Amino acid sequence: MNKAVRKAVIAGNWKMNKTRPEAKELIEAIKPLVADAGCEVICCVPFTNLETALEATKGSNVKVGAENCHFEKSGAFTGEISADMLAEMGVEYVVLGHSERRQYFGETDETVNKRLKAALGAGLKPILCVGEMLADRENGITAELVAMQTKIALKGVSADEMKNIIIAYEPVWAIGTGKTATAEQANEVCALIRATLASLYGEAVAEATTIQYGGSMNAKNAEELLAQPDVDGGLIGGASLKAPDFATIVKAATNG
Ligand code: 13P
Repeated sequence: MNKAVRKAVIAGNWKMNKTRPEAKELIEAIKPLVADAGCEVICCVPFTNLETALEATKGSNVKVGAENCHFEKSGAFTGEISADMLAEMGVEYVVLGHSERRQYFGETDETVNKRLKAALGAGLKPILCVGEMLADRENGITAELVAMQTKIALKGVSADEMKNIIIAYEPVWAIGTGKTATAEQANEVCALIRATLASLYGEAVAEATTIQYGGSMNAKNAEELLAQPDVDGGLIGGASLKAPDFATIVKAATNG
């Protein structure tokens, strides 16, 4: 395994936080702190903050992502946003299949797959989230479950399209709980996802794909997690809302 061939990516997932003035303030605070980052830096923000974020990040190394998109191109889907709408704005990334979408909004592996294909079709770069619930881990089915989520989400996706996909391993029990996976647990599942990619697309694609860990990653534990051979970055919730903490994680990725 050669970590150096992969792009390290630190992405903030702001979730349902920040008004537009607050979003501008946070991005302005983040920008100078990450200006010399040796990894890719992304802020995934609520739909209402996208325009503000795109404006505030102009000319900087901070990229902007959305937190979801719908799978249809247009139509009678009240409250939804299409991939084309995001792409037209200049949004580059989109988080898909986040466990909060799966848990609270009825998203399934099948709809995540449809969203992923719609996003790729619009030229967006998906950050595909997979991860087990606590009960899955206790039942000893983490490996099977995460492999299944990965396979279904990527159904019909070509090896060439994998260049534009980031995968985030987010154990649901570690999200927002302050309970982080150990570095070994995080690495084990990231490696397993990579093995799944190898079975689908071959070693070269598996080796080139960025796989992040997410779940209570913070300024204190980032260095150890990011030093793992199969952990290529982080998808950060709570800590991405504090500029100095987010910048510390970016620094840890630059070093790791
Ligand atoms: P926390 O970092 O707040 O645990 O959230 C992780 C997450 O869900 C990122 O998508």
